[in-house]
Amino acid sequence: MILMFILFLGACGSDDAGGGGTTVDEPDTTDEATTDNSDEAEATTSEKLVIGFSQVGAESEWRTANTKSMQDAITDAGHELKFSDGQQKQENQIKAIRSFIAQKVDAIVFSPVVETGFETVLQEAKDAGIPVFLSDRSVDIEDDSLWVTFLGSDFVEEGRKAGNWLVEELGDQEDVKIVELQGTVGSAPAIDRKEGFEEVLSEHSNFEIIKSQTGDFTRAKGKEVMEAFLRSDGDNIDVLYAHNDDMAIGAIQAIEEYGLKPAEDIVIIGVDAVKGAFEAMAAGKMNVTVECNPLFGPQMVGLIEDYLAGEEIPKRVAVEESMYTMDQAAELLPTRQY
Ligand code: AHR
Repeated sequence: MILMFILFLGACGSDDAGGGGTTVDEPDTTDEATTDNSDEAEATTSEKLVIGFSQVGAESEWRTANTKSMQDAITDAGHELKFSDGQQKQENQIKAIRSFIAQKVDAIVFSPVVETGFETVLQEAKDAGIPVFLSDRSVDIEDDSLWVTFLGSDFVEEGRKAGNWLVEELGDQEDVKIVELQGTVGSAPAIDRKEGFEEVLSEHSNFEIIKSQTGDFTRAKGKEVMEAFLRSDGDNIDVLYAHNDDMAIGAIQAIEEYGLKPAEDIVIIGVDAVKGAFEAMAAGKMNVTVECNPLFGPQMVGLIEDYLAGEEIPKRVAVEESMYTMDQAAELLPTRQY
């Protein structure tokens, strides 16, 4: 009897403990400006996280610096990194994300090579309860609940900066002929840098883009396409606008081999502000580069940790950037980190 009485009291105790808790509503994870994860978080706050990082590739100096920044930030914070190099191919990135889902990572950092075609796989990540953090490049997808936040540059603004610099420099000159080396077709920086640049030039009738083609963000392709531009338009070209410095550097080689002087015969505008551009500017071969800062690994890790700790995260976090001209290059080159 005594034993039964003790068991009865024990049962009452455990009922109280369970019944005393309140039912937690499903969290509303998305609102227009922020993503809030406060109801789910506490369990993961100070744990070692497993983070999958699906990177675009290794196409440029910028990309190499961005990969290192992200890898260092994740491992320095004591988390485990699962890294995948997409080699500029969408199908590789889809496979990588599926593999991260299968491995049940805590978070996915994703830098999409192109803007479209990732809905299904991002939905799969959401269904598996794995938050996705867009890094560097965004996606063109209506349902923004498929990612937590986008941390990266304002590419349209970078294009505008390039256009405004050109208007300041050659605004008085008549009939300025421009050739454009675009980034990877369908990628956010290629689309947006073109848009920002054209937006500025549309108000100045003395500028004309006479040729525009992709150089896929690589030096080799930039050189090859510039050779073709020179073959068809030769001495007619006043300005090269390259969507990144690597293509500009490849094009500089092509211009020299063609027998012209880069930065004198043809004005050279790049984007990224990588060391290679500073070297070219210090050597008098490139006029200007618009900064696109790749060193936001620590900022990304901070966002992931904050989100998993239940904090509200802005839907869009911009990286602050500047631009640099030839006359600043020699002084700044030794201090450049990428
Ligand atoms: O998405 C950022 C761009 O990608 C960089 O400007 C370019 O160099 C890289 O390949």
